[in-house]
Amino acid sequence: MSVIVAPSVLSADFTAVGEALQRIEQSGAEWVHLDVMDGHFVPNLTFGPKMVADVRARTKLPLDVHLMISAPERSLVQYIEAGADFVTFHIEAAVHAHRLLQQIGAHGVGRGVALVPSTPVNVLEHLLDELELVLIMTVNPGFGGQSLIPECVEKVRRVAEMRRQRNAQFRISVDGGVNRENAERLRAAGVDVMVSGSSFFKSSEPALEVQTLQGQQIA
Ligand code: DX5
Ligand code: ZN
Repeated sequence: MSVIVAPSVLSADFTAVGEALQRIEQSGAEWVHLDVMDGHFVPNLTFGPKMVADVRARTKLPLDVHLMISAPERSLVQYIEAGADFVTFHIEAAVHAHRLLQQIGAHGVGRGVALVPSTPVNVLEHLLDELELVLIMTVNPGFGGQSLIPECVEKVRRVAEMRRQRNAQFRISVDGGVNRENAERLRAAGVDVMVSGSSFFKSSEPALEVQTLQGQQIA
């Protein structure tokens, strides 16, 4: 099964989101990644549920909503109602992660948790059967255009091993600094989903960029 590429709208021109969605669809990328930032959990602000709903109205591609927000329990349902297909909250922002995953699952939406680079993967141990997506941040969250932190690749390998041992079914996603130079290393570590912000939106050939991340073209 080939890797899913999820371009991040964070790197698009926010005055031309419709065009960004067209670019994503025409590139052959399979998911749309939406970064919600609250200016509290991370030192940056982006958008809320209305943007998710507006994007929902413009594309049939699965919406991969990444909540970089404090107290996700307060607004999680709004993102589900806005049309998210996957809702991923940060484990560092949630005391009752298990309950939140149950809540997301009860709505028939993909359950995701994200880990910042300093969070060890063993926090996932008691959640392995409650997940459709584990998002390993490969930069410190908040901004696009940063460089991938090499140590995070080892976390991917460990999560893939945990999944194998438990015979669990979730996908492993990486987010931050993903590009054609490190894609092969990430695929080898067990990645299923690659979020791509600046590398996708800066590319003059988005379809080629997607195929390269997937490993269908030589970097
Ligand atoms: C960072 C966001 C990412 C970001 C990735 O906090 O979660 O999704 O858009 O952008 P690049 O690929 O430029 O690192
Ligand atoms: Zn993200």
